[in-house]
Amino acid sequence: MPAFHYRQNHLLCEQMSLRTLAEQYGTPLYVYSADAIVQNCAALRRALADTDHLLTYAVKANNNRALLKLIAGQGLGADVASQGELFLALHAGFSPERITFSGVGKREDEIAYALEKNVRLFEVESEQELEYINAVAGRLGTTARVLMRVNLDIDAGAHDYIATSRKHDKFGMAPPRVLEVMKEARRFPSIELRGIHSHLGSQITRVEPFVEAAERLRSLVSDFRAQGIAIDEIDFGGGFGVRYQGIVQHSALAESPEEVADGPTILKRVLPILKHTGCRILLQPGRSIVAEAGALVVKVLYRKHNEEKIFLIVDGGMNDLIRPSLYQAYHQIVPAEIHERQTETVDIVGPCCETGDFFALDRDMPRTQPGDYLAILGAGAYGYALSSNYNARRRPAEVLVNDGTAAVIRQRETLEDLL
Ligand code: LLP
Repeated sequence: MPAFHYRQNHLLCEQMSLRTLAEQYGTPLYVYSADAIVQNCAALRRALADTDHLLTYAVKANNNRALLKLIAGQGLGADVASQGELFLALHAGFSPERITFSGVGKREDEIAYALEKNVRLFEVESEQELEYINAVAGRLGTTARVLMRVNLDIDAGAHDYIATSRKHDKFGMAPPRVLEVMKEARRFPSIELRGIHSHLGSQITRVEPFVEAAERLRSLVSDFRAQGIAIDEIDFGGGFGVRYQGIVQHSALAESPEEVADGPTILKRVLPILKHTGCRILLQPGRSIVAEAGALVVKVLYRKHNEEKIFLIVDGGMNDLIRPSLYQAYHQIVPAEIHERQTETVDIVGPCCETGDFFALDRDMPRTQPGDYLAILGAGAYGYALSSNYNARRRPAEVLVNDGTAAVIRQRETLEDLL
């Protein structure tokens, strides 16, 4: 059962009416389906069943602690990008030997904290970072396990801001440089080099870039081994795309589902290639676990016309969900209740004092009125995680629907929280 679907004209999360949830908890409101997250974890685990692997959830996608607990309970590890994310992951019950620490700018105190907590490994982005981690580990009398991040110079077709593996991007190192560094392992007595890491970018919707990356990694591993360098682990990163169009269907909605290769489909193609190396395979999916499991519910405050446009002014804004403003990202937006089959073309905009504060432009929607609720779908990943207090707006509440009950998993911020 998909996380969100219509029963007649009422949109439900699992079996609960979004309108009822919005009335009970207020808007803007993030609503998540526990079952969808569990199913997404299970599908990836099944795809990896015959592979020596570690599946780590990229905490940056959504770090709500109840969701982290749920994901830890599905047997996943965690990939963290800061001390704060590591703190949250440990708090949620992820064991340190299932936690990887990635990110291009780790500070000394963050490295020391991660070493003290004995995380499984660091994913290292530069030679200087390696020297730095070596020094901190030496000082603490410990050893840091490390994967070196390679930049494969593959353009996987993601939005410019979230593509990470073209050679002009700030991430990783060119393979020849990684080889040089790994050959000089003796320079780093407090480092144990275990292998390599590649993350192509995010919201990659085709299989081919992943296949190309897997083939390149396989040949790199043989090159490295030919030079006497042991490679035991490959972290293949995350980046599996999700649907943002046509997530829910109704006869009054024209939108049809977008074609996107999902994680299990991609893994079916890449695992046979990666397995040739005999390495343990790590993965760091974020979006594909939580995106479709979440929606941001907003209330229509006003309808406003000018000569060219109809604006639906809603009570959520770019501070609550910035993806449309920041990446021109498309999110399907549907009424929580379909009262009218007649459609109209609208701009769905927020209350923030920016022209870029919109959720959709020139969107065909069944007609809605002030007081109606809209669900912005696909908002479970990089939604709340990227929210802010811009315009001194309080961050929204988050609710988790689980087995027929709803629970607040993060309170709406209060005015005092703004002080
Ligand atoms: N591993 C590394 C090293 C990453 O940098 C990321 C995401 C992931 C894994 C998880 O990627 P995913 O499976 O979620 O695609 N805010 C943007 C996305 C930024 C992605 C950052 N890194 C958005 O809303 O589209």
